Amino acid sequence: MKQTKRRPVKKAVPSAGRRASGLKAAPSVLERALNGRTILVTGGAGFIGSNFIRMMLAEYPGLRVINLDKLTYAGNLENLADVSCDPRHKFIHGDIRDAALVAGCFERVQGVVHFAAETHVDRSIVDAGEFVLTDVFGTYILLEALRKAPGVEFFVHISTDEVYGSREKGFFRETDSLNPSSPYAASKVGADRMVQAYHTTYGAPTIILRPSNNYGPYQHPEKFIPLFTTHALEGRTLPLYGKGRNVRDWLHVEDNCRAIECLIRRGRLGEVYNVGANDERTNIEVARRIVKLTGASKDLIKFVPDRLGHDTRYAVNINKIKALRWKRKVDFEEGLEATVRWYMDNRAWWTRIKEKNAAFKSFYESYYKDRK
Ligand code: NAD
Ligand code: TYD
Repeated sequence: MKQTKRRPVKKAVPSAGRRASGLKAAPSVLERALNGRTILVTGGAGFIGSNFIRMMLAEYPGLRVINLDKLTYAGNLENLADVSCDPRHKFIHGDIRDAALVAGCFERVQGVVHFAAETHVDRSIVDAGEFVLTDVFGTYILLEALRKAPGVEFFVHISTDEVYGSREKGFFRETDSLNPSSPYAASKVGADRMVQAYHTTYGAPTIILRPSNNYGPYQHPEKFIPLFTTHALEGRTLPLYGKGRNVRDWLHVEDNCRAIECLIRRGRLGEVYNVGANDERTNIEVARRIVKLTGASKDLIKFVPDRLGHDTRYAVNINKIKALRWKRKVDFEEGLEATVRWYMDNRAWWTRIKEKNAAFKSFYESYYKDRK
């Protein structure tokens, strides 16, 4: 075992933070400053990461961001075109599994927000290998760097509500047991629990966020809302899995980014926080709404063979993050309308992905072969 600079905690007290290591107890609400700081964002060329970087640079003139992204099929520098010339944003093309590169990044920053992951459930059903390698092993590499970097004051890990699995009624609390269904969700559980273990064992300054389904601008067209919106605009069939009765709690990406900002500033180290909109919709409701907003024919909606292990419903209790003064701002009806408008106005962005991205095209052709 290598020497580390962080002091290990004596026993497992997940919520006690650095108190357990004999260090001064973290106040229940700690206001961390952001201006004048540099943060590392992993996966910042993806959907949520790029929205987060844009929002943070706009809100904190004194903040610098290092964005480490491998640019997999899901990463896209066009998502950050408007901040590409901003000297406060430095992009590094690299893999979170590259320990030397990661260690160098950690030396230069005071905080980390970790988004990088393989994220598409359907892809994980076809082949889970990259999910284990990036989501679990990649997170482990970051955590090893974290415990050797005393200058890093916080590490916000973006987990998911999918770690809890599905439930018909009620809402999961942060203390509920984890019961993932898909290989994607299982890989996120691996990462989530490694993060907590590094807090418990080494006193690493971690905070975990478990958000519900996000939607908004720059979401990859492989995901439900952008796939259906762009297909509807192209007059293509909208492949609705099963009976379309599965329920998701759609959270606008800006509200999620504000939740991350809230945790950086006021979240308690060592804690887990759920976030969601508590505004549930069945998939068929969302599909009908998209058809209406795009002016497409409702006949485009086609029921197709279900996703394997398809979770019926995700739902999280959000009282804990609300106590930190986070509140959803975007109503789903308005947020969906604005999102559909964004896809209408940014046709070139998604056409390039759908027509030129070989990884997207080949996956779509084979996965949806019997679903078109
Ligand atoms: P995304 O797929 O749009 O982006 C992922 C980004 O990570 C891409 O830019 C990709 O290039 C990068 N990446 C992948 N592997 C990498 C590696 N090995 N090294 C460096 N970069 C790598 O994902 P997203 O929707 O923006 O999700 C971001 C995070 O939020 C993920 O951890 C995801 O599990 C979580 N999350 C997403 C949602 C959602 O609805 N989108 C909901 C809850 C949680
Ligand atoms: P998705 O955007 O993949 O997110 P997640 O699986 O992480 O919730 O899917 C959202 C819902 O939409 C989910 O219940 C599956 C469904 N869905 C379809 O019905 N058809 C599709 O082509 C896709 C991609 C998703």
